[in-house]
Amino acid sequence: MNRRRNPYAGDPGTRAAKQQGYPARSVFKLDEIDRRVHLLRARQRVLDLGAAPGSWSMYASQKVGPEGAVLAIDLQVIQQRFLPNVRVIHGDARQFALELGRTEQPFDVVLSDMAPSTTGSKVADQAGSFELFMTALEVAAALGKPGSSFVAKLFMGPDFESAKRAVTEAYAESKTIRPRGTRQNSSEVFVVGLARR
Ligand SMILES: C[S@@+](CC[C@H](N)C(=O)[O-])C[C@H]1O[C@@H](n2cnc3c(N)ncnc32)[C@H](O)[C@@H]1O
Repeated sequence: MNRRRNPYAGDPGTRAAKQQGYPARSVFKLDEIDRRVHLLRARQRVLDLGAAPGSWSMYASQKVGPEGAVLAIDLQVIQQRFLPNVRVIHGDARQFALELGRTEQPFDVVLSDMAPSTTGSKVADQAGSFELFMTALEVAAALGKPGSSFVAKLFMGPDFESAKRAVTEAYAESKTIRPRGTRQNSSEVFVVGLARR
């Protein structure tokens, strides 16, 4: 039988994540960002955009604890079982951006690990990533509390400076982090905003 192999099945990061009960190695990126900027604390409300398969939401739900809350949104169905402080919405964050503002209490942290389906064209993928990044920032502007934090993934490209500028305008402090767990051939970085103005 000629079954296609998962190319990352042997990846040490993926194996380590699974051993610790997380569905994806991306958890180590959030863990590093969290340790570097002290992002997540007990009792916070966290919005996780592009949450499937669920590692970031799991990690955040453990950090915010039973008096905190995580709202996870993804285009894909999330199979992961979470603690009771996690709610899941199946859908497009671009559509929820405005609707959520009418129904949700403000958040302490807005996370986005959203990534476009890759097309094979670097230019198109960078543009798609920038659009998702700006959607996340728009959501954070509508739903982040004053003083709240923002973390979003961006594929490095010509729009990086304008993405960074938009975060600098909205947050008192901004940082760009490329976690150690990032694959060598990936152009992704995480732009962090702290203390929303
Ligand atoms: C790298 S994965 C996220 C991994 C996740 N942070 C974790 O730790 O398990 C990127 C996700 O972004 C989602 N995504 C892309 N565009 C989206 C959109 N417009 N709305 C919601 N989710 C989106 C994809 O479906 C995909 O599941």
